[in-house]
Amino acid sequence: MALRTETLSPGRATVRAGSNIAFIKYWGVADAAINLPLNNSISMTLADAYTTTTVRWCERSALVEDACTIDGRPVSGDAAARTSRHLDRLRAVAGVDWRAEVTSANNFPMASGIASSASGFAALTAAGCAAMGLALSPTEQSALARRGSGSASRSLFGGYVEWEQGHDDASSVAHQLFPAGHWALRDIVVVVSGAAKTVSSEHGHTLAATSPLNAGRIAATTHALAEVRAAIVARDIERLGPVIEADALAMHAVMMTGNPSLLYWQPATLELIHAVRRWRSVDKIPVYFTIDAGPNVHLICEAPAAADLEDRLHDFACVQKIIVSRPGSGPVAVEEGG
Ligand code: PMV
Repeated sequence: MALRTETLSPGRATVRAGSNIAFIKYWGVADAAINLPLNNSISMTLADAYTTTTVRWCERSALVEDACTIDGRPVSGDAAARTSRHLDRLRAVAGVDWRAEVTSANNFPMASGIASSASGFAALTAAGCAAMGLALSPTEQSALARRGSGSASRSLFGGYVEWEQGHDDASSVAHQLFPAGHWALRDIVVVVSGAAKTVSSEHGHTLAATSPLNAGRIAATTHALAEVRAAIVARDIERLGPVIEADALAMHAVMMTGNPSLLYWQPATLELIHAVRRWRSVDKIPVYFTIDAGPNVHLICEAPAAADLEDRLHDFACVQKIIVSRPGSGPVAVEEGG
């Protein structure tokens, strides 16, 4: 991205950005240094699982090091370094050497099966730009957010979003397919384990190529993406569902068969997969599952089915928490104290 020459000043801004749930997953990198993915991915941005981040830029004379607080706790070590590396990207585009004070809060628990890196890096990018008056388009911000966490590129847009694989830093960006109001889907996040993952998705992406199944999954995404786009256009859950289940299972098959093997599922994961299929075949409820890099299960359904499904989930001993989210908007500026 070219160096920006507009008049910038070290200020402060707060932005709220939603996480997202992928219908066709990003798994595996073509270029790990800049998070270029192996395939396009499609997601729904979440209204009810978001990160709110305040960035305050300071001259170096006033602040020698970046300082970051997440959910009320000062951040150090790897997480602090990852935040500073992202601030470096913003500094490089702006041509400044200021330091930043970052305060970030999630409205959902970390390790809940909702990607805090997606909403976190989207909010950090948008707030960091706004706080210095750096006027980047959402597309340019999507490219920047991608460098922090691939899935964050999609959270720069609301509703139903596709991230184009692209071939370089500028072309690997997301765009909106439809705004949130297009289709009242729900993501019912079923938390069966709050334990932190042993292998981060950042590391997992670099292992995808070690699975003999990876090439097969990637080849299948071209048709799967077309099906998901068509299903969203037609608001057809029965067309969407089987494709998103198949891609989630294919991604987990790649994870399980890589070297080293990643096995994110717990017994409760499988219990919920069977329940979803039973509710569909026996009770005729149009509900489908998807699973990210963890044991928790996301149930995707249309709004009218959500309350009944939530009731049914309460009967499971393995269920620790249920979060229901609607589709949401892209990042929004928040008034101080808001
Ligand atoms: O953005 P990352 O590096 O946390 O990777 C996200 C990986 C998945 O959540 C499993 C899939 C996706 O596309 O969101």
